[in-house]
Amino acid sequence: MDPALLHARAALDWLLELGADEAIGEDPVNRYDLAARAPAPAPAAPAAPPMSAPAVATGPADPVATARALAREARDLAALAAAMEGFDCELRPGARSFVFADGTAGAPLMVVGEAPGRDEDIQGKPFVGAAGQLLDKMLAAIGRDRTDPDPARAVYISNVLPWRPPGNRRPETPEIDRWRPFLQRHIELAAPRVVLIMGNSPAIALLNRGGITQIRGQWTEAVGRPALPSFHPSYLLRNPPAKREAWADLLSLHARLRALP
Ligand code: URA
Repeated sequence: MDPALLHARAALDWLLELGADEAIGEDPVNRYDLAARAPAPAPAAPAAPPMSAPAVATGPADPVATARALAREARDLAALAAAMEGFDCELRPGARSFVFADGTAGAPLMVVGEAPGRDEDIQGKPFVGAAGQLLDKMLAAIGRDRTDPDPARAVYISNVLPWRPPGNRRPETPEIDRWRPFLQRHIELAAPRVVLIMGNSPAIALLNRGGITQIRGQWTEAVGRPALPSFHPSYLLRNPPAKREAWADLLSLHARLRALP
């Protein structure tokens, strides 16, 4: 291949790695250069006279405490969604859509995934890309359908993070910590009878432990409800042999749902 093309290809791959997976302008803009050429700042206003008492230095607000307070105040899912959308988060400027949930709130089953990916960011709905299509097939195999409001078939779906992390990277621990209070409140308000925890990030958020390969298939509790950790559909797409264990988990989930009074 032409070395110039090879070079351009490597540069594009590098940009993709960084999370820049969309072209938003015809020509590249060097924003460092813009900053250097920006007009000189206006002269500073005269200093205010000293106040009688020294100001008390307040550190930046603790985001986890803020999240807890906001989540606690939310009285319904609409209020929770509004609080989450307004919550300050570094992921927000890099994402296109706020992704809250899909399916039927109040369904006996709630599925919790990790975070929106590219397709979810575009459509503003969780699990609509390749992993979502696999999830839909898995749910259909046990008689569940996110588009069906009938409680016998309904399912509600959400994620740990409502914003897409750049380049589809995994959520980082401080991000999971910040969003945990919202997820817990989300589960309380959606009030499922059973929670399906798909992958490591929701396991860390809800069970305080990862290692999904070790814990999958073992019933536990999350936010006071029976919860089953299992593999994330993206992992199953990358590791088809793990579908055997995922199927065993689905059968266990099906049995639990059918046994509900
Ligand atoms: N993976 C997830 O964990 N959630 C989505 O919404 C999409 C892909």
